Amino acid sequence: MKFITMFLLLSVLGADCQSFHRGNCPKPPVQDNFNVTKYLGTWYEIEKLPAMFERGKCNQATYSLLEDGTVKVRNEELLANGKINSIEGVATIKNSSQPAILDVSFFKGVPDAPYWVLSTDYQTYALVYSCSDYFGLFHIDFAWILARSRELTEEVVDQLHEELTAAGVNVKRLTVSDQTGCDVMT
Ligand SMILES: *[C@@H]1O[C@H](CO)[C@@H](O)[C@H](O)[C@H]1NC(C)=O
Ligand SMILES: *[C@@H]1O[C@H](CO)[C@@H](O)[C@H](O)[C@H]1NC(C)=O
Repeated sequence: MKFITMFLLLSVLGADCQSFHRGNCPKPPVQDNFNVTKYLGTWYEIEKLPAMFERGKCNQATYSLLEDGTVKVRNEELLANGKINSIEGVATIKNSSQPAILDVSFFKGVPDAPYWVLSTDYQTYALVYSCSDYFGLFHIDFAWILARSRELTEEVVDQLHEELTAAGVNVKRLTVSDQTGCDVMT
């Protein structure tokens, strides 16, 4: 049964083979003393490891605090037909002594995705990593370089590439996000 599930997973996600790796997820260091309050607001996607569920451009994420202390996530993108596509989820800090490690859930019944803030200065950039283990055999990872504006200096991008490399991520797999012609986005 396990193998059937794995086969299905591989078939469904097969389009993105580059994100498959043998063994368990790396455990890179995360942002010290992460303060989620300072992290709230809008972030723009500058680069990412291929994520199939994003088809448009001008990708952005807005985080706001909910009354129960969890964080509302609103991801938006501009589709080729000019429509704005959005999806909402909830991010939760599972262990308050590790606040930079969150879980994000977008759909009921679908497992949460990990959301690790590897580093951020809250005002310019953020580096986010998400990795899931499957049966102890392989892992699939995603990463995002985010910024408070639709562009980020090369110096900062280089620094974040170094951090990802140290975490064992091949930065050649990153793709640059299109953040041009985004005037219709708020
Ligand atoms: C987190 O940041 C907020 C907003 O700047 C601040 O009011 C709060 O004291 C900070 N919390 C901690 C634990 O530093
Ligand atoms: C929370 O994190 C701390 C520090 O890493 C760890 O010692 C503790 O076991 C964790 N608690 C739970 C419930 O996982």
